[in-house]
Amino acid sequence: MESTGLPASTSTLRRLGLAFALLLTATYCLIVLGALVRANGAGLACPDWPLCFGQVVPEFDLKIAFEWGHRTIAGIISSVFLMLSILALRNKEARAVVRRLIPLAAAVLVLQIILGAITVWKLLAVWSVTLHLLAGNAFAVLLLLLVRALLEAAEPTPREWLARSSSACVLTSATFGLLIVQVGLGGMVSSLYAGMACPEWPMCFQGRFVPTFFGPQGVHVLHRLSAYALIPLLAICAWRTRGIPRLAFWHAAALLIGIAQVVVGIANVLLRLPAEVTGLHSALAASLVLALAMATRETWRGLGARRAAAGGAKRASETSASWVSANWASAPECSRISPDRGQ
Ligand code: HEM
Repeated sequence: MESTGLPASTSTLRRLGLAFALLLTATYCLIVLGALVRANGAGLACPDWPLCFGQVVPEFDLKIAFEWGHRTIAGIISSVFLMLSILALRNKEARAVVRRLIPLAAAVLVLQIILGAITVWKLLAVWSVTLHLLAGNAFAVLLLLLVRALLEAAEPTPREWLARSSSACVLTSATFGLLIVQVGLGGMVSSLYAGMACPEWPMCFQGRFVPTFFGPQGVHVLHRLSAYALIPLLAICAWRTRGIPRLAFWHAAALLIGIAQVVVGIANVLLRLPAEVTGLHSALAASLVLALAMATRETWRGLGARRAAAGGAKRASETSASWVSANWASAPECSRISPDRGQ
């Protein structure tokens, strides 16, 4: 490892990690606030962008306060991200850890801001609302990866939690992929106003489980089916990784959040989409994304460390997907381990 063992460097890395963790918390709250903006029908309460009714600070009613608050907090988060990124990139130890993640997070943030503007200009077009939701979650995941990379560089973690097999990586990654599809489908359900397209549960409409796969009702059906597929996958992931420290924790957390999410999704339908339940559904979705992102990251790092320990770290990092490479690069204790340090 580089000089991350030095106390001064360690405390800088830790402070940066904690600062990014606070930013992640704010971003999580912003995602939930975004859901509440939509659930309260306030998406176009400020009909222009970047100003609101041509003003920096408009006259407020509740809806305008929701939408203006969402934009203002987004602006603050963007500025703090810029500031922290500059600080991190100017520090030698931190730069070694975050040099790939920060440009990626910055690109997603820029995309997110553009999508936010398009969402207003295009009057809440389904595709822009859905991509805005996905990009917001992607930014939160990248912040989480930054936090973990910085904190783990400050305090390298023991490696007894290594993944047992590469198939754990494949399964967890596939489940994470399905979750992204599920969040996209959820965004489509809400932006198509299809929440009540299936007003019954467990059936969808007039006693039929799958009346159609097309149109808003079809999207709602797919959202339900995808949720029902996710839960057993999360359960298998949790079962396969039981007993492996960290992996077991994140997989179990993902499973529990997933089950709670299905219950809240059902309540959302049966209670006719109250804003609080919709807000909770979005909060749980973001929590699930973060928990499963952590599980996926830990699984891949375990595999990376296993390969590295077997003397193949360099070859493995070259042949891996770029997402994985980026994370190994931000995980020096895995990517730079030498066989003589032992496992
Ligand atoms: C793991 C499972 C699930 C995930 C990750 C998930 C995720 C989401 C997301 C991200 C949204 C969009 C929220 C927004 O626009 O702010 C959404 C909307 C919605 N979901 Fe789910 N969902 C899941 C399961 C379910 C289930 C099982 C049901 C019903 C049986 C359901 C019913 C709904 C409804 C009705 C909406 C639209 C809410 C509205 O229009 O206000 N969801 N979901």
